[in-house]
Amino acid sequence: MELDLSFIRRQFPSLRDDYIYFDNAGGSQTLKRVMDKITEYYMTSDVQLGGAYSVSLKARERVNKGTAQIATTLNAEHTNEVIVGSSSTALIRLFSIVIGRTLNPGDEIIVTNCDHEANISAWKDLKKQGVVIKIWEFDTTSLQLELKDLKPLISDKTKLVAFCHVSNIFGTIHPVKKITEFIHSHGVQVFVDGVAYAPHRLVDVQDLNVDFYVYSIYKVFGPHLGVLYGKKKHLLKLPGINHNFIAADDIPYKFQPGGPNYELTYSLCGILDYYKAVAQHHGMLATETLRKQMQYAFNLFDKHEEKLTKVLLDYLSAKQNIRIIGDTGSDVKFRVSTVSFIVNNTKSSEIDAKIHPHKIGIKTGDFYAKGITKSLDLDRIGGVIRVSMAHYNTLKEVNRLISIFETIL
Ligand SMILES: Cc1ncc(COP(=O)(O)O)c(C=O)c1O
Repeated sequence: MELDLSFIRRQFPSLRDDYIYFDNAGGSQTLKRVMDKITEYYMTSDVQLGGAYSVSLKARERVNKGTAQIATTLNAEHTNEVIVGSSSTALIRLFSIVIGRTLNPGDEIIVTNCDHEANISAWKDLKKQGVVIKIWEFDTTSLQLELKDLKPLISDKTKLVAFCHVSNIFGTIHPVKKITEFIHSHGVQVFVDGVAYAPHRLVDVQDLNVDFYVYSIYKVFGPHLGVLYGKKKHLLKLPGINHNFIAADDIPYKFQPGGPNYELTYSLCGILDYYKAVAQHHGMLATETLRKQMQYAFNLFDKHEEKLTKVLLDYLSAKQNIRIIGDTGSDVKFRVSTVSFIVNNTKSSEIDAKIHPHKIGIKTGDFYAKGITKSLDLDRIGGVIRVSMAHYNTLKEVNRLISIFETIL
């Protein structure tokens, strides 16, 4: 079945004009359902949590419901394994401090050189307390993280490997389950940045068996928030970073100093409602489990995104003066619809500047994945040109971009 794009696009008020949003890996458009939940919160439960009066109880129930939606989206075993924060960067930083408090000088952490800096700098800063940082470099031919390069880095001092599910430049999906299995076989924990993956596929933290997983809600059709999953057994053991009197088993609160943003947390319900509405609009029974409905919606998204990616990649691959920075195949098993490229002997920003007047939002640069642009020597041309498509983009929009490329590339 094809994705009904007119139904899909009606769910996003900003898509009513003719602007083309192709910077979705930077931030997606927001669902009307999410906006409505924020308004509903302000209109009918705008009070502090923790009171015994009815409006406060309603507010508490709404915030809990929002968090529970994320637990379902990630297939977490327990709702209190989900921590809501202001962004992925903030959550990773917070957890680097918390995990750092359990480490001794000489302990080792492995980070990659193809992650967004959020999942690198925070860990590197633990060097100040004597933690040794090793770098798992991506393979410059396959443009992927390879296990063969990780193996020599692991030692009996290794405590954690931090890596990304998908690079926000390459768009290639790393086999997280397999990598995690290997890392666990050495008694080491994994911390996965799923920011570039979560807008495109349904995550299952239990199947992946990851210890920690983080992603940004504002790239997944919702508000400016980040969420972090941590296995309950780890969260219970880790020291909290909230007030001293908060109990060690009070998760996630012991990791949420000041508490989460109430209205935005409640609005997370709008995202799951959307996935259900998509599934049911396309013939799925409302009586099916939530996960089944969500998976059905994501299957429709994937099929559509693959089509868009193929058209763009086929066009770019046929151009002599263009180098695609990432997998040139569009198979959804291996990549998401984030496509990066460079034009020979041309500054990426020059291309960018010629696209914007056509009311198309694409972006150039290093996207804070500075290890990639450095290793591939792309900084001298100002990084890559990135076209990052979401499921609400249309083939017509891709063809419009291609017709403009035709005049400038
Ligand atoms: C792969 C990846 N990780 C982490 C981040 C940081 O996310 P946030 O803006 O929520 O801190 C980004 C932001 O673009 C990203 O693309």
